[in-house]
Order: sequence, then C-alpha cells, then structure tokens
Amino acid sequence: MAIRQLPPNLINRIAAGEVVERPASVVKELIENAIDAGASRIDVAATGGGLSLIRVSDDGCGMEAPDLELAVERHATSKLNDDTLSSILTLGFRGEALPSIGAVGRLSIQSRAGGAPTAYEIAVDGGRKGPLKPASLATGTRVEVRDLFYATPARLKFMKSERAETAAIGDVVKRLALAKPEIAFTLTSGDRTTLRLEACAPGLLDHGLDRLGRILGEDFVGDALPVRLARGGVAVEGFAGLPTLHRPTSLQQYLVVNGRPVRDKLLAGSVRAAYGDLVPNGRHPMLALFLILPPDEVDVNVHPAKTELRFRDAQGVRAIVVSALREALGAAQHRATASLSQDALARMAQPSSGFAPQRGMGNAPYRPGSAYGRRFGFAEAAQAPLAPVSTPSAAPTEANPEHGAAIDYPLGAARAQVRDTFIIAETEDSLVIVDQHAAHERLVYERLKKAFANGGLSRQLLLIPEVVELDAEAADRLTAAAHDLERLGLVVEAFGPAAIVVREVPALLGQGDIQGLVRDLADELADGEGSLVIAERLDHVLATMACHGSVRAGRRLNATEMNALLRDMEETPFSGQCNHGRPTYVELKLTDIEKLFQRR
Ligand SMILES: Nc1ncnc2c1ncn2[C@@H]1O[C@H](COP(=O)(O)OP(=O)(O)OP(=O)(O)O)[C@@H](O)[C@H]1O
Ligand SMILES: [Mg+2]
Repeated sequence: MAIRQLPPNLINRIAAGEVVERPASVVKELIENAIDAGASRIDVAATGGGLSLIRVSDDGCGMEAPDLELAVERHATSKLNDDTLSSILTLGFRGEALPSIGAVGRLSIQSRAGGAPTAYEIAVDGGRKGPLKPASLATGTRVEVRDLFYATPARLKFMKSERAETAAIGDVVKRLALAKPEIAFTLTSGDRTTLRLEACAPGLLDHGLDRLGRILGEDFVGDALPVRLARGGVAVEGFAGLPTLHRPTSLQQYLVVNGRPVRDKLLAGSVRAAYGDLVPNGRHPMLALFLILPPDEVDVNVHPAKTELRFRDAQGVRAIVVSALREALGAAQHRATASLSQDALARMAQPSSGFAPQRGMGNAPYRPGSAYGRRFGFAEAAQAPLAPVSTPSAAPTEANPEHGAAIDYPLGAARAQVRDTFIIAETEDSLVIVDQHAAHERLVYERLKKAFANGGLSRQLLLIPEVVELDAEAADRLTAAAHDLERLGLVVEAFGPAAIVVREVPALLGQGDIQGLVRDLADELADGEGSLVIAERLDHVLATMACHGSVRAGRRLNATEMNALLRDMEETPFSGQCNHGRPTYVELKLTDIEKLFQRR
C-alpha cells in the first residue's frame, strides 16, 4: 500500500486517543487550562458521567478573538515562550488538548478577554471547525463538550459505568483542587453539586487544612502529620497520614510536583519505602505531598496526559521524600489513629451490641472514688474486683504512689489487665486500652532493628539446644542461610536430613517461641535465594523474630511490667501500630465516654 500523509482530522483523532482517554481526562485538560489562565474560581459540571456534557467555566484571563480561533488548532499554544522545554511553569504546553477534544466530541468555547468589549464563541464538532461568532459572557472562559467520543465509537465502547466515570471526574477535580487551594472549585454532577470548595489562602501547610479535610476527610486531618523538609533546592511539604490510617488502594495518595498532580512510580515507591513495614501488606497510607524543585530538574514531557515525570536526580528525590516522611512519622512516636477510638465509641454506643447503658446501672463511675462515684454512692461497687479483670494491685494509686504519678504520661498509668491480653490504663483525660502482644511485638522489633543497625544482634546460648523437625527442603534452606542467620543472632545447624538444631538465639528475644520462629523463617526463605532473601527482607525476618519473641496475649503481667511496657511504648518510634499495621492501643477520651453515658 502506498504511503500517504494523514489528514489533520485523523491526526487529531489519533492524538486524542492518548490525551483523552475518558471523560475525566477532558475535565482534567479543561481545568488545567483554567488554572493556567489564572482563574480564581472554576466551576465544573458533568452529566451522564461526562459523556453527555462536560462544562468548565472560569474567571481567568479569557481569549481575544484571533487567539480563540487559534486555540482549537493543533500545536497552537500560548505557553511556550521560547523553543525549549526546559523550564515549563504551566500545566499545559503541548497545544493539543482542545483540538483533540474537538476531534472526538462536540466542543464549544465561549471566551472574553479581560478588558475586551465582547465575548466570542467557536465550535469544533467531530473535527469540523465552525465560524467565530459573538457571544455574551463576563471575563473568562466557558468550555462545553457534548457527546464525547461520538466521533470515535470504538472508544465509546470502553467506557465504564456512568457511576465509575463520574467518580473518576470527582477524583480529577479533587487532585487539582488540592494542588491549588487558593482557587475556589465547584463540581456539579447531573443536578447535584457534589463538591463546593472555598478558596484558601495560599500555602497548604499553613492554610490548606480546611481543603485537606474536604478532600481527604476529617479523619485524615485528625491523623495527619506535617511534613516539611528542604535540601539542595528541593522542598517536600504536606501531610502524611498515620500508618494506622490505611486504605486498600493508593487513590488517597495525593502527589503534587511543582503544582502538578502526578502519578509517578518513583514517588509512589518512595512513599512505600518510607512507610515500609508500618503499613500492612497490600494496604496504602493516605497522604498529600507537595514537591517543589527547579523546573529544569523535572521533565514533564514524558506522557501526553502529563501525569508522569522524569526527575533529573531520581535518587536524590527519592532520598529526600523518604527522609521527609520518615522524619514526620518518627515524630509521631506512639500515636495511633484517633479515628479508631471514634469507631470503637460509635460501636459501643449502638444498643444492638448488647452494650446499651441502662439508667441506674450504667451510671457506674468511671473512676473509683471520683466525684461521680461519691455522689451516686457507687464507689464501693466499682472497687470490688470484677471477675475477668486481674487487678494489678488492689488500688494502685494508694499502694504505689509512683503509679499514681504515671497518669501524667501520654499512655497513663496501668490500672488493670483484662483477659491477660489487654492493659487498661488511665491518663488525665482518657482511658487507654493496649493490646499487649501487639505493643510488645513492635517494641521488640524496633529494638532488633536498632541492634542490627548497630553492628549485629547479641546472642544467647540455649542451655538445652532445641531441635526443630521440618521437611528436608526447609531444613536445607535454613542451613544454607545459617551464616546470615548468625548475624541476626540465630545459630542453627543441620540435624539429620529433616531437622535442624538451634544452639543460640537473639538475646533480645528471651524465651520466645523458637519452634514457631524457625518454621516461619523457613517459610520466609522459601520465597527466593537464601541470603538474598534475608538481606532484602530483613525487616520481614526481624518482624518474624519479634512476633515470636514477644509477650503473647494470654500472659499475666504485674503492675510494674504493665507500666514498663507503657513507658517503653512512649519512647519507641512507630509503637502506635504493630508490625502487621494493626493498632497497638486505642485511647477513649473521658469526655467521649461521658457522652456514651449521656452525661454530656
Ligand atoms: N480557559 C482558558 N482561558 C484562557 N485561555 C485558554 C483557556 N483554555 C485554552 N486557552 C488557550 O488556548 C491554548 C490552547 O489550549 P490547549 O489546552 O489546547 O493547549 P495548551 O494548554 O497550550 O497545552 P496542552 O495541550 O498541554 O494542554 C492555550 O495555550 C491557551 O492560550
Ligand atoms: Mg491545555
């Protein structure tokens, strides 16, 4: 077949295939244009998932008549003032979005430039450009797209449900709105306004919390740790959710580079590395992170949709993002998500749980001898030991004044142990419930990591070596990795064809569950080449060790042990969640408990 030069209309449709993947891509391009035009408010409307109608109105600089005619032509842009692509400061620069949209749908643009006496209108319908006409509009631009993809039925077949397309549009609006808190946004779907965001003063860290809450939810704001780090011309700022606040997808991760929302593998990987073992496998933390770096350090001309980037110094960017997040997370110490305790309280408040407070009985004082107790005469009843509770010492406050003082600590003074599993502690204004196994596991794990980083784990000789029966392959894997395991404090030797003998264990583990540990390690090693696995999955291996070396649920602790655990938690980074990402404790505010009993 002879080669032919393609007609412009076909070229535009081909280009549109990359730029306009779905209705949400149109919304993205149009909002970006409005932002580039300096708008202070942007109103978005979509019906039929954006396939029937998309309308984006802005109060930006608008276009003069000749510019409006050019805007819908391919490769026509006002945004590149020299012929290099090295310092792009606008969201658009390809001069491609409007002609692409016009090639696959019915596009009409009304616009009035600042100071111009009239507005003009132009339409492009399936690639056919109409004449310029006068219109009526205040300064700004209004773009409407109807019947998207009517000109490319093949693409139309790939659309998801109306609901899914509407959701994707919502996501796009939110991402851009978060990147530009100083612009007011509304989103109307069908005849419902689903999002209305007032303009915030610029500077997300200082003023953007309101918008952050509207977009990521108030849960997030309550549990967001400020991130701020600048190094060598690169700044990272924003908010990182506590690791206990995780989601099944990474949709709640908002990454913005020089004002551009992006989905970037390097950044996503950096986030994963920073949260590492703090979040359970397959779950994703929530965050809003802004990267600011010199424009010539990033190449945005990588993908037609401009959501991917290339960094000149990828490793440097990764390092600073990881440090910034680690620093923020480390500062959280033992904090666990506040939304958990809200959930717990909400659950307790539901009468169907069989926990409905009954008037009279339900009024038992929360603190023996407190004003409530005395007033209602319940003090004695409350102090009488309840069957499933093992009281650390009959009345810790009197028996041991030190424990009374512990109430000032963040996790308070241990008051009781329930079911040999949970520690109940009291602070000035709350009740803290600790999962002792989860908490101890995290403490042991953090200690193991620290000891390993400081030159290896010290070992403890077992008086009676422990023989662990395994299958032959598992035994082989362990003996092959013996050298590496020794650096982790575990000395194992082959023992016949299908067993190994453990001679020394990491001193930090104490009298843990050696059998369980060895079996789990053998499983860990099954995933790859012995020593490689250990080096790459050190965190996992240490976590496995910690799990087996920790105070199991079901062990009775005395008051001193419980308080020691609480103090350790306060001092240990990341102790708000166990190695599996579960919380180690919940805190119930007394004011909330009072509400539960309808005292407030
Ligand atoms: N809402 C708007 N207000 C003012 N001018 C606009 C608006 N939308 C588009 N324009 C003008 O039309 C031109 C073409 O827009 P188009 O989106 O096609 O390309 P672009 O934004 O320059 O680059 P890209 O293809 O990367 O988006 C822009 O460069 C801009 O000058
Ligand atoms: Mg554009």
